[in-house]
Formats: sequence, structure tokens, C-alpha cells
Amino acid sequence: MLSTTIFTSPQREAGISGGRAGWRGNHPPTLSREVFEWLKPKMIADPMCGSGTTGDVARQMGIACWSGDLHSGFNLLTGEIPTPADLVWVHPPYWDIVVYSGQVWGKEAHPDDLSRCPDYATFVQRLDQAHYNAYQAVQAGGHLAVLVGDVKRKGLLYPIMRDMRWYGEPVQVVIKLQHNVQSANKAYNSNFVSIAHEYLVVTRKPKQFANAWLVSVRLAQTRELDQRGLEQQGWRSIVWTALSALGGQGELQAIYQQANSHARVKLAETKGTDWQAIIRRVLQESCTPVERGLWALSN
Ligand SMILES: C[S@@+](CC[C@H](N)C(=O)[O-])C[C@H]1O[C@@H](n2cnc3c(N)ncnc32)[C@H](O)[C@@H]1O
Repeated sequence: MLSTTIFTSPQREAGISGGRAGWRGNHPPTLSREVFEWLKPKMIADPMCGSGTTGDVARQMGIACWSGDLHSGFNLLTGEIPTPADLVWVHPPYWDIVVYSGQVWGKEAHPDDLSRCPDYATFVQRLDQAHYNAYQAVQAGGHLAVLVGDVKRKGLLYPIMRDMRWYGEPVQVVIKLQHNVQSANKAYNSNFVSIAHEYLVVTRKPKQFANAWLVSVRLAQTRELDQRGLEQQGWRSIVWTALSALGGQGELQAIYQQANSHARVKLAETKGTDWQAIIRRVLQESCTPVERGLWALSN
């Protein structure tokens, strides 16, 4: 049974079998067993069953389980799970890390295969749709468990676990360590830090609802903050940002112009503070003079 928020099982099948070790992106039966011992479900649904690990473990533990997958005709984007369950287990593709239709199974790409999404934004949007459909089958007081990993590409992190919507009340995040991680990037770039963990995000549908039509959804959003509206931005930071906006260097007048609509400058004006003198002092203290009246960001 899970006893800490870190799950590690170097042996895929320690005392329990299930799924296929050769199925790319399978999860270890030991993880299913520990989660089932913890949550004690009576009915499980796994709508992205892959090689069938969840169902195999459930059978061995005497727990009823419904399994489906796009490979055998069940589409979580458009279909409804046919039975309510007190644990719905979802292990989606991690975007296109492993491409399923046409590669792991079947001969052709399936348009609703989550591993075939054309870009990350489309992937997250469809993943949310899949999780919404999965959550519908969770019984009141039951759990949704989503096993998911992050993706690193061209130096940028795509944190799926953070970007996806969480349906229901958060219960636990378990870090699942990955063993035998291989990364092609590592071979080419000794500076590459391999991702060696995944997350199991467990949420719960409330036992009782004030209004059963309302679903609690947690979502992260990236938005741009225009710092010119922030009185708390510091003077150094204002000058450095103004120089960045000018391409790394600029004339004093251009720097003033960048700053003059800033909320901090407006506040200084209402107090009768000479903000241009502050800017000149910051330039002298923390920037590089290029020539008379021309300043650059220091390296
Ligand atoms: C990471 S694998 C699951 C592996 C599984 N946990 C195991 O141990 O073998 C993800 C699965 O999602 C399936 N899948 C992708 N898009 C789907 C969709 N729209 N509906 C249902 N299944 C989908 C893929 O076919 C693949 O089998």
C-alpha cells in the first residue's frame, strides 16, 4: 500500500503481474496494486487501458473492472464509460512521446488518438475533454487517478500535470519514479537533464453536492502581465526592462520615454519625486555607458 508520496518499484512485477512489459508506455502492476490497496475500490474503470495492466491487477485482487481503449474501439473523447466506478484510472499518452495508433497498434493514424495531436495546445485541450468524460463515470465519493508525465522539448518544459485541468477535489499527488529511463537527448547532449518521474494525480468527487450540476475544476493559465501597470516594480528592474525593450541599449531620452507611462513613474510624479534623476542614478550604478548619453545592459 502507498505509505509516502513517492512510489518506487524497480521491479515492474514484484509479486503481481499484469499488462505487457513490451507495450510502450505501460505502467507497472505494482503501482496499480498499491493504489487499489490504498483507495479500496469495488469497481474500477480504465478507459485508456493500453496493454491492460489495471484490469489484470484488478482481476487478481478480486475487484471488478471495465477496460477500454481506442485500439479496441472505445474513444474517450467521444464515448461515455458504460459503468459508474468508484475509481476511474486514466493513463493517457504523454503528448507524442510514444505515438500509439499506426505505431504501437494498428496500421493507420487515428485522428482522435491523443498521441497524434498536432501541437501541445491541442493535446491539452483534448486531454481535458478526455478527463471530463472520465470524471462523469466517477461515483459520488469516488476517485479519478490520472498518471501523467512531463515532456521536455528543445530546452522547454511542457508540464502536462500542471497544464491539464483537475476535475474534482484534489486528494493526493504521488511522484512515481521511473526506472531504466532512456533519453535520446542524453546521448547527444551531456547537459540534458532526463525526466525520471511521473505523477499520479488523485482527485475525488464529493460525497454530497450542494448542486450536482456544478463541477469543481482547477486550471492553470499562462497570461502576460504588463509591468508598466505595477507600482511595485523596482527602479532597477524598470531601467533594465526599458533597455531590454530598446534591444539592450538606448539613449537616455528613449529610456525616459519607455518609462514615462509606468505606474511607478506616475506615482513618483504625484509625490513630486524627480524620477528622471532616479533613472540616471540606476544607469550609473548598474548599466554600462557605451558613449555619451548611450547606455547598455551590463552583462
Ligand atoms: C500510456 S498508454 C496506457 C498504458 C497502460 N496503462 C498500460 O499499462 O499498458 C495510453 C493509451 O491511450 C490510448 N488512447 C489514446 N487516445 C485515446 C482515446 N481518444 N480514447 C481512448 N484511448 C486512447 C492509446 O491507445 C494507449 O493505449
